[in-house]
Amino acid sequence: MAQELAWSEAFAVGHAGLDEEHRALVAAINAIHRHDDARQPREQLEKLFADLQALVSKHIAHEDEVMRMIVANVNSHESAASVLHHHWLEHLDKHLDEHDRWVADLDAIVKRSLAQGGPAADELQHWFFSHAVKSDAPLKSLFQATRQQYPKLIAQLS
Ligand SMILES: [Fe+2]
Ligand SMILES: [Fe+2]
Repeated sequence: MAQELAWSEAFAVGHAGLDEEHRALVAAINAIHRHDDARQPREQLEKLFADLQALVSKHIAHEDEVMRMIVANVNSHESAASVLHHHWLEHLDKHLDEHDRWVADLDAIVKRSLAQGGPAADELQHWFFSHAVKSDAPLKSLFQATRQQYPKLIAQLS
């Protein structure tokens, strides 16, 4: 079995609130990793999965809101900002779809794990990477570019 997940800056997108949530997801995955199905009650594993699913719902709702607020606040008419606005707009729909798939993937992992009797820690780590390292990677550069042109905006969107 893989080791517990250690926090890495590769999991950060450069937004304090969202990064705090990524940290909470890592902690929730590690708690599942530590669950010993042979010795601990099944209800405990169900509770740990439910906690993770709740954190995920909260996180994607927050991330979606931050992205929408940026699109709404980055001026599409100023020439310097319009490129940035276009990049956010172009990315938004794709990212929302990725979130839907990410939630569905977790539901499938949880179902399978509970049916087969095991915490599926390796699978959960890969599932987390597919979001924090892969899917959220474009957000990192978009946040950076947005902060350069709108220094106060990202800080306001906590
Ligand atoms: Fe995220
Ligand atoms: Fe995301």
